[in-house]
Amino acid sequence: MIQPHGGTDLKPLFVADAAEQRALADAATRLPSLTVSSAAAANAVMLGAGYFSPLPGFMNKADALSVAREMRTAQGLFWPVPCLNLTGESVGSAQRIALRDPNVEGGPVLAVQDVQTVEVLSDQELALLAEQVFGTLDSKHPGVATFMSLGRHVVSGPIRVLNYSYFAREFPDTFRTAPQIRQAIAEAGWNRVVAFQTRNPMHRAHEELCKMAQEAVNADGVLIHMLLGKLKAGDIPADVRDAAIRKMVELYFPRNTVMVTGYGFDMLYAGPREAVLHAIFRQNAGCTHLIVGRDHAGVGSYYGPFDAQSIFDARVPKDALRIQIFRADNTAFSRKLGRVVMMRDAPDHTPEDFVQLSGTKVRELLAAGHPLPPEFARPEVANILMEYYQREESGK
Ligand code: ADX
Repeated sequence: MIQPHGGTDLKPLFVADAAEQRALADAATRLPSLTVSSAAAANAVMLGAGYFSPLPGFMNKADALSVAREMRTAQGLFWPVPCLNLTGESVGSAQRIALRDPNVEGGPVLAVQDVQTVEVLSDQELALLAEQVFGTLDSKHPGVATFMSLGRHVVSGPIRVLNYSYFAREFPDTFRTAPQIRQAIAEAGWNRVVAFQTRNPMHRAHEELCKMAQEAVNADGVLIHMLLGKLKAGDIPADVRDAAIRKMVELYFPRNTVMVTGYGFDMLYAGPREAVLHAIFRQNAGCTHLIVGRDHAGVGSYYGPFDAQSIFDARVPKDALRIQIFRADNTAFSRKLGRVVMMRDAPDHTPEDFVQLSGTKVRELLAAGHPLPPEFARPEVANILMEYYQREESGK
């Protein structure tokens, strides 16, 4: 199977041994504690689940700045987005702290951190991190707004993770760690696996994108790997999306060709940089390919439609990753051809030849109880979304 990022062994930071886990949880009750941000909690979950292997924990300032500028840690590990525990409070001189979960009632301990350094970011450093990662300092960008609100104390050091926050409990059928996915891939006997990142329900274009990618790279299977963490207002909640995706897979994919899974991370909306992070954690999950299409991990018009593809040519050295990128062009149903195509494969088409709907239009139609065109969405999928939007409407 494909090697994990940066070494031969995956290094999940979850404490798997039950006795060790009990002892650590018990010791944590006597440690000074810090209720971390949702972003830091999500980083801890990703570290615990092996997706961020081989990072040993949270970065210090030097690593974060180096990652932001060069996409490498000070030690030279290729990494695209700083993995930080940023907080507004000082943690004093404690050498070991319990990280409490902001997303679970009662703030249980999520992880234990050995504090290596606590450093404070200057205005310039904060701005540099945001600008490099998000490509903008605009506070209307949801990722920038979140990042700028986290605080300036950089608490660095290795962590050990005690649980997977709310993800394992709320999404028991969907949340999977990187070792679990590797194991499932091995059990299925798959060698080539193409991953599909998503934070949205999947319509016909997405369904076909997966099928086209699978065929093009000759993959044994597709890993649909959805984000289960926090989103911006207006995005479809993970449980509704999960149900819609499962229905699509059940009805429209050959059996045993797709795994529907998810990971516990908050959406950054960092476009190209997030796409590179996506590639790393799919490699860690045992995938050989990742689909990157139009405006991958983007928001508004902050990124060019294919910036998340070109970063792999412009900024990712040849030997940095083992996973390969399947670059997808804008995909939509062609009225002329009567099937979903990539636009680059239909050079004689005009925009009117394609069935395309904006997210806003889809929402309007469904909230008003109108079906979506079958060329755009599978009716069974659209029904699930319609129920959701109508519940939302009636709750207003
Ligand atoms: S993302 O933020 O998780 O990237 P989304 O779930 O909308 O958003 O997209 C999942 C993947 O499908 C991304 O790789 C994206 O680029 C790709 N994609 C979505 N819609 C299209 C489309 N119409 N044409 C080509 N690629 C698309």
